[in-house]
Amino acid sequence: MLPYARPSITDAEVAEVEACLRSGWLATGPRTARFEAALGEQVGGLSVLGTCSGTAALHLALAALGIGPGDEVITSPMTWVSTANVILHVGATPVFADIEARTLNLDPAAVRAAVGARTRCILPVHFGGAPCDMDALCGLAREHEVLLVEDAAHALGAAYAGRPIGSIGDATMFSFHPAKNLTTGEGGALAVRDPAVAARAARLRYHGIAQDPGARSSGRGPASYDVVEAGFKYAMSDLQAALGLVQLTRLEEMNRRRAERAALYLDRLADVAGVAPLALPDARHRHAWHLMVVRVEIERLRIERDELVGRLREAGIGAGVHFVPLHLQSLYRPFVPAASALPVATDAHRRILTLPLFPDMESTDVERVVEILNRILRETERGTAVRAAASVEA
Ligand SMILES: Cc1ncc(COP(=O)(O)O)c(C=O)c1O
Repeated sequence: MLPYARPSITDAEVAEVEACLRSGWLATGPRTARFEAALGEQVGGLSVLGTCSGTAALHLALAALGIGPGDEVITSPMTWVSTANVILHVGATPVFADIEARTLNLDPAAVRAAVGARTRCILPVHFGGAPCDMDALCGLAREHEVLLVEDAAHALGAAYAGRPIGSIGDATMFSFHPAKNLTTGEGGALAVRDPAVAARAARLRYHGIAQDPGARSSGRGPASYDVVEAGFKYAMSDLQAALGLVQLTRLEEMNRRRAERAALYLDRLADVAGVAPLALPDARHRHAWHLMVVRVEIERLRIERDELVGRLREAGIGAGVHFVPLHLQSLYRPFVPAASALPVATDAHRRILTLPLFPDMESTDVERVVEILNRILRETERGTAVRAAASVEA
């Protein structure tokens, strides 16, 4: 089975993790600090906090920015569930705005329509590694004096109009889950603009104790401690950071390989009738190519997306679906008047399909995926034509 994602791990990562294990320092410490500093450089010098997951980073962002009960956060329905779960965790209310059919990113016009008196924050998701329309979203945030927190789980290494993703909003979350562009096993990071918010996020990351976790357990800080608010246990460990440090030195190369494979997909898919890749953002940008998502013309091919996923998997291609939109999930249905309120996301859900894309994929793998996809679609079309002819004869 060719999976839809696979981490790229070399001997260098193995050696650094081994060195960490042998160092005797596994929890948050010197490697985490080095990883945070290196990632901070990538995102224009902002403060970066390593976390145990991307979800934790996003939760910290909302909590540290003081978003809570009575506040509304406008976000995309086309995302992983943690984007909205953390809004509920801080006691705020998620408001879903529709997406653009072309990119599956938040539609700024829909965001504008969703802004109300209780809006505190806009939370865009850079879907698949393609930057959102940040000029429009930053403009809206400024105009309405609301916060901008970015879910960049897919977008490490991406840039918008020459600015790295991570350097634009009030806070930006990255995920280092093994499927992502950079992995720490599980893990994440939060880039924060305001130093006071970064300090609060750091405190909340470690139980609400006003002292950094590395200093405490290394014996460098005072033995006593003071808990000033109810925080979480969300810090990255040095074991995770060891992996991340090496991955970060390879990020450029890994993202280049993703982009090369994506370019080959775009070329080969141009000859496949009935599927179309997502459009690229209009603005000057660098794509992180986290996901290779295509839209299937289900009406023409008369095949349901789930059946197509099943047939691809039977043929050894690990196709996936990113995502089942949140407004169609039991938990979030009550937050949306009706599925028809988000027509673009509702329609996209029926036709999107994720094809394998990861740095160590060979170009022959891309050729094989497209060949198998094409074969299944042509068989479906022939089946449809035969059924149509039979019904005419009958
Ligand atoms: C868009 C999006 N947001 C948030 C997350 C959560 O990240 P993590 O799995 O690191 O908690 C993911 C990861 O799957 C994601 O794809």
